[in-house]
Amino acid sequence: MISKTISSQTETSNLGNYQDIYNSFQWQEAEQHFTWNETGRVNMGYEAIDRHANSDKANKVALYYSDQIRNEEYTFQEMKDLSNKAGNVLKDIGVAKGDRVFIFMPRTPELYFLLLGTLKLGAIVGPLFEAFMEGAVKDRLEDSGAKVLVTNPELLGRVPVEELPDLEKVLVVGNEVKEDAKLIDFYERFDGASKSLDIEWVDREDGMILHYTSGSTGKPKGVLHVHNAMIQHYQTAKWVLDLRDDDVYWCTADPGWVTGTSYGIFAPWLVGASNVIRGGRFSPDDWYQTIEENKVTVWYSAPTAFRMLMGAGAKVIEKYNLSSLRHVLSVGEPLNPEVVRWGMEVMNLRIHDTWWMTETGAQLICNYPSMEIKPGSMGKPIPGVVAAIVDDQGNELPPNRMGNLAIKKGWPSMMRAIWNRPEKYQSYFLPGDWYVSGDSAYMDEDGYFWFQGRVDDVIMTAGERIGPFEVESKLVEHPAVAEAGVIGKPDPVRGEIIKAFISLRDGYELSAELEEDIRNFVKKGLAAHAAPREIEIKDSLPKTRSGKIMRRVLKAWELDLPTGDLSTMED
Ligand code: PRX
Repeated sequence: MISKTISSQTETSNLGNYQDIYNSFQWQEAEQHFTWNETGRVNMGYEAIDRHANSDKANKVALYYSDQIRNEEYTFQEMKDLSNKAGNVLKDIGVAKGDRVFIFMPRTPELYFLLLGTLKLGAIVGPLFEAFMEGAVKDRLEDSGAKVLVTNPELLGRVPVEELPDLEKVLVVGNEVKEDAKLIDFYERFDGASKSLDIEWVDREDGMILHYTSGSTGKPKGVLHVHNAMIQHYQTAKWVLDLRDDDVYWCTADPGWVTGTSYGIFAPWLVGASNVIRGGRFSPDDWYQTIEENKVTVWYSAPTAFRMLMGAGAKVIEKYNLSSLRHVLSVGEPLNPEVVRWGMEVMNLRIHDTWWMTETGAQLICNYPSMEIKPGSMGKPIPGVVAAIVDDQGNELPPNRMGNLAIKKGWPSMMRAIWNRPEKYQSYFLPGDWYVSGDSAYMDEDGYFWFQGRVDDVIMTAGERIGPFEVESKLVEHPAVAEAGVIGKPDPVRGEIIKAFISLRDGYELSAELEEDIRNFVKKGLAAHAAPREIEIKDSLPKTRSGKIMRRVLKAWELDLPTGDLSTMED
């Protein structure tokens, strides 16, 4: 573990002096900004788009969209008009406040018009990742009682329309849709729809978005967020993304996942930034080109993506000019030191780690441009958030003791319910009003948090506690290893032994020598007891869309158990 601190490259930032602000900040300061300050009512659709369209930012570019075919720009004024039109299409087919409207389509500008239009009607939006297959789609529509689904002709085949009694209308975004009692042609109605729409002003505690996420057991759960979350989206856009008026911001996440909405839609637009959205599949050339062409200044992505770019090699990166970048951030999984080193090498920038979850709705523990960074640490809680390490009874543990990473209830963007499952919601909390994340971590004497793994993934081997993340990080530093997932395998003598699943980089083949070399590499880099006793090669490892290796799937393979819900797995 590298423990020396370094100063971040940005000397000035929107956060200023972290400690001073942490000591004095109250969320009420951020609330001043929104309409409820005057009227007691609010709407995310208005705050993200219309507020700017009605200001001197009306002609500023809100959205730079590109994919393999399209390359388009929309100003805040145009986003207002087009989301109003989409809202009118939805209103005409019966969407009203509180209804669940699910959106199951690839990233295109229309997805964003429709998502914003849904919010403007006070309805609750449920974004679904386009790679979901029929079972995953059905589970989510059924559980949420969705009234309307928006999709395209290609994905329509994966929607079991007849088996979903609550589903009244399916809005199809594509050419030549044949309408029937349920199917509605979007473009047919969109073209002639009115540009003016009466916003449905809602209470800040009214439902806004439903993101389904998997736990370790059972079906995916619907995490409900409310309009109040905007306070934290806004404030973290300033402090953590460090967005300023002239920034061009790109978040690579799909809106099917919380990063793609909280930080791909809400945060950047609440502060009126120009937002880049790239459709289509990942390709290193496309991604570098997106940065170069749009002159992206602030970039938010994930370690897996960085590792994929890293794997593509220096020859690709040399073709592009990335000098517009000022601030780069990461989320979703541990930021390996190797990735940080790569960032310094190719961008001359430190990648800033941020920690949060679907359930937390927004960033909570982060590295800010203005603070001393300890490489390997997730950083410190944002002002207004109290984080601690607690035991299973909710008692706070002293520094350097590993335990449950917990957050004091009451931050603005906290989930407000697990849809239809109040008992599941309650199970997140411990006495003392602690929200328990399910992650294990420790806090050092300076108040920095260090991620160790999911609580249920920590390995006990011969009485030693091993964080799988540390072993995985070490493994991927070996030149032959592309990806690694580490689990505890039950062992009659040691309790558990460490088993590593790895995929190899191109040009390597497993041999007894290589296996021994990898094992020694971990032994040397970490500790003898941290080296995997068993190594198994896979072509690729099971991952979630946000890039986390699904250790529970590896464990299930290993122990010949059912793999459980795979709907969040990358295709
Ligand atoms: O285990 C933590 C990991 O991702 C989990 C939350 O996953 P999800 O709800 O899919 O949200 C991902 C993006 C917000 C956490 O419980 N995680 C998230 N960020 C980090 C992380 N693990 C290590 N370091 C992080 N920065």
